[in-house]
Amino acid sequence: MFVEDLDGAERGRLAGYVREVDRARFLLGVTITRRVLGRRFSLPAAKVGLDRTCAECGKPHGKVRADGVELSVTHSGDLVGVAIADVPVGIDVEAVDPELDVDAAARVALSPNEVRDLSGYDGIAKAQAFTTYWTRKEAVLKATGEGLRGDLQAGVPAGIQVQELEVGADHRAALAILSAEPPFIRVKDASQLLN
Ligand SMILES: CC(C)(COP(=O)(O)OP(=O)(O)OC[C@H]1O[C@@H](n2cnc3c(N)ncnc32)[C@H](O)[C@@H]1OP(=O)(O)O)[C@@H](O)C(=O)NCCC(=O)NCCS
Ligand SMILES: [Zn+2]
Repeated sequence: MFVEDLDGAERGRLAGYVREVDRARFLLGVTITRRVLGRRFSLPAAKVGLDRTCAECGKPHGKVRADGVELSVTHSGDLVGVAIADVPVGIDVEAVDPELDVDAAARVALSPNEVRDLSGYDGIAKAQAFTTYWTRKEAVLKATGEGLRGDLQAGVPAGIQVQELEVGADHRAALAILSAEPPFIRVKDASQLLN
């Protein structure tokens, strides 16, 4: 029922998913984005202009952009998040994976200080702590638009604010903005928009 709102590029993306769960997450992210912006700009969701042109290759799989607003979209596990701001923004949610080899992942993704910090945790608490670090880093790299090509081991650069979002025990989430001032964040449940 949401597919009518999608443009040609989005329908192409939708058709390319192999796993139904990935298809559903993408569709929800697009639908939430279109409906939120439709309300804001008094437009039908299908008339909202979204651009995902990749800066590297031109395919429609890059950071989502719209005129007059800054956006970021994320999906993982049971959650889909859309951040809307007046400064460049990045949002990242990750399901906590209890099977994750945290030490191996930490060696690649975390700074030596963060690795040391993580050694104080065990079991699921360790996976949660790693995922907190990870979402903070991804939120920053999504705010700048670098994505995972950026330096994961670096700290937060000046002029970027990062804040963790409370999303329950099974997921971790963070939001970053390119701003000197800490963000004022209003969290809204999107389920009403989808009815
Ligand atoms: C962006 C990225 C960090 C997302 O990682 P993820 O945790 O697997 O996925 P998430 O669900 O949190 O985020 C996906 C969203 O990120 C956004 N996104 C894609 N590229 C982005 C970028 N460079 N910067 C910021 N956001 C980006 C998209 O809106 C995407 O949503 P969509 O699939 O519904 O369109 C990762 O995919 C990445 O680094 N991509 C860029 C890699 C690259 O340069 N590719 C070039 C290919 S030619
Ligand atoms: Zn590309």
